[in-house]
Amino acid sequence: MGVNFNNHSSDSHGEANTGLLIGPFRQLLTMNNLPEKGKIADEQLEIIQDAGIITVNGLISRIGLYSHLEDEAQQNGFGFDFLNGDYVAMPGMIDVHTHICYGGSRAGDYAMRLSGKTYLEIASMGGGIWSTVQKTRQASNETLLHALLKRLEILLSEGITTVEVKSGYGLNINDELRMLEVIQNSDSLLPIDVVPTCLAAHMKPKDFNGTNLQYLELIVDKLLPAVKSRNLSNRVDIFIEKSAFTTDEGLFYLRKAKEIGFDVTVHADQFTAGGSEVACLEGALSADHLEASGEKEISIVAQSNTVAVCLPGASLGLGMQFAPARKLLDAGASVAIASDWNPGSAPMGDLLMQAAVLGAYEHLSLAETLAAITTRAAKALNLTDRGSISKGKLADIIAFPTHDYREILYRQGKLKPAAVWKRGKRMPLPGPLQGSV
Ligand code: NIG
Ligand code: FE
Repeated sequence: MGVNFNNHSSDSHGEANTGLLIGPFRQLLTMNNLPEKGKIADEQLEIIQDAGIITVNGLISRIGLYSHLEDEAQQNGFGFDFLNGDYVAMPGMIDVHTHICYGGSRAGDYAMRLSGKTYLEIASMGGGIWSTVQKTRQASNETLLHALLKRLEILLSEGITTVEVKSGYGLNINDELRMLEVIQNSDSLLPIDVVPTCLAAHMKPKDFNGTNLQYLELIVDKLLPAVKSRNLSNRVDIFIEKSAFTTDEGLFYLRKAKEIGFDVTVHADQFTAGGSEVACLEGALSADHLEASGEKEISIVAQSNTVAVCLPGASLGLGMQFAPARKLLDAGASVAIASDWNPGSAPMGDLLMQAAVLGAYEHLSLAETLAAITTRAAKALNLTDRGSISKGKLADIIAFPTHDYREILYRQGKLKPAAVWKRGKRMPLPGPLQGSV
């Protein structure tokens, strides 16, 4: 369902969603009043015991003690979504970086990597991103949409209520537009909010006869104005890397994209440093990857307003080091965590599991990891209407079958939400409800 970039009031999914009291929750983790940047201690988390949440028309109207809200709900004739058992509620998770609109599989790349070839070697042999581009171009709109919807359904059932999805496997005007249209369609077909990003600058396509700069000029002249005028996306991404685009090319492209009115984000410092500095210089909303960031890059990102997005799924998929999340937080950066779900480097797509594992390796407090997939993730997408449970925010809520919020990350992703509400509506989840164990 549409993010509509700034207007979240419309509900294309039908019936008006009037007042509802949800609960009781043994603990409600609001994620309110946390710093946007730097370290967070668990003691800073606001936890309301035996809590309830009143939602009205898909927004959070009141939070507090369930027993207090019960009277109010009765007086107003609100509905009740009564939960019997031990549950901990927190905001729906936000996955700010995925590439889940694609054709084919790259299991062959994975096998080659495990047999000793590097990601960049496989790319130069015709595998990698380019092979997914060919399969994506060959796939019909229906095939692409069907596969995308299946992935989105999995995400929603796992508690992801907002997800960013990039193009970047079309790499010509028509196929990039086609991808963005499919992504836009998916948004209107499921309750999950999909934030589309144009990643036409993923790499220069191998069938383009010209320089990197000429390719970027073509995108700037022909594609971005069309994306803008058709309202297909308001975000532009570029992969700054040896196998893709240089920092100078990145500077050129991001400036042009901003002139046309796009927010920008960067695939930065994945294998070699450089992209993060460009991202910060250009005021990018986020610099994503950062596995190769050193002290210099960490300090640049920390001093900027650009969110550092760590992608542990890519580290796990490639068998590489994690981004230096601890150092970034200590230096004062805002750190978000995303799945990078894509067919090449990050095929798993389980944000909660990946966030928990990164947190364990990087020694992040529970609060830092939870903020990285809620409030700070919202900041990375420039969405001010979600990420915490407080009055006026979207009623995007998930409930885990436990009495103690610490169990959520302690279980390293195996404890899944037992209930998911999107804009105040309970989502049907596949399979039986999980009980506490
Ligand atoms: O974020 N680094 C570049 N892009 C993706 C990989 C996409 C692919 O391999 O298909 C990433 O890891
Ligand atoms: Fe990526």
